[in-house]
Amino acid sequence: MAFSYSTLFLPGSVFDLSDSVVLVTGGSRGIGRAVVLELARAGADVVVHYHTREEAAASVAQEVRALGRESMVVAANVAKREQVERMVRAAGEWKGRLDGLVTSAGVYRGPSIEEVTVEGWEEVFEKNLGGTFWAVRAAVPWLRKAPAPAVVTISSIFGSHPGIGGAPYQMAKAGVEQLTRALALELSPEIRVNSVAPGFVRTDMNRGAHEDPEFHRAIARATPLGRWGEPEDVAPAVRYLLSRESDWVTGAVLGIDGGIALR
Ligand SMILES: NC(=O)c1ccc[n+]([C@@H]2O[C@H](COP(=O)([O-])OP(=O)(O)OC[C@H]3O[C@@H](n4cnc5c(N)ncnc54)[C@H](OP(=O)(O)O)[C@@H]3O)[C@@H](O)[C@H]2O)c1
Repeated sequence: MAFSYSTLFLPGSVFDLSDSVVLVTGGSRGIGRAVVLELARAGADVVVHYHTREEAAASVAQEVRALGRESMVVAANVAKREQVERMVRAAGEWKGRLDGLVTSAGVYRGPSIEEVTVEGWEEVFEKNLGGTFWAVRAAVPWLRKAPAPAVVTISSIFGSHPGIGGAPYQMAKAGVEQLTRALALELSPEIRVNSVAPGFVRTDMNRGAHEDPEFHRAIARATPLGRWGEPEDVAPAVRYLLSRESDWVTGAVLGIDGGIALR
């Protein structure tokens, strides 16, 4: 066959997810929302999970349908194991399998150690680490029904690099990274498990910070690539880690952070 650039760059031929079914937790907003749309553009049908923002989730699902893919929404508080299990069951029963799971639901809290309360400690662990663990656990039987299943967890630069304040959040994200490696080993070779660790990305989670001009400038200056990230900077990495092009990648934590982890 004659070589041509058009065969190399056929739309959908790179990191293609045609006809796969993926559940994205926290798909209603921020990084999760950008991931949902990126996966739909790659050909996936996507289950959009939300907690409180039903309208936001419904609107993301509508955007998926406008891209020619199918979508459904499902609610759960990821701090509640039974709700997480119900969410995953609903997603699995939709098409009878899950090809992918992306765990983006999470919260940031930044108290100093002296300000941390028992409730605050539990909240951060339950939502970030417990929510991820129980979602993957519930998804495994559905993932096993798919031909090439993969999980992508969402960690943070703070999963491996310390910051001042929010120690429980940083510990929970470090836990997400070790969970990723542990499950990558345990579930090989059937299910690949990888993580994406974003740097500072402009979302509702840190609106107070990125809308503060001084803080905004400080982060941009500290980031070797000179700016904050956008959710759309993170989403293609998730698409790659779900695709067959990453068939030989498991247990990896991919920093998508403008280089700030180099500091
Ligand atoms: N933004 C950053 O700079 C950054 C950097 C590193 C890592 N991360 C990580 O990236 C992930 C997404 O963050 P984001 O910035 O996109 O946040 P975001 O814009 O605040 O969105 C958070 C998402 O998580 C869901 N959520 C929050 N609490 C929940 C709960 N108890 N149960 C179920 N779902 C819940 C929200 O659902 P509703 O919309 O329904 O409330 C929403 O979809 C998080 O794991 C975060 O730790 C973010």
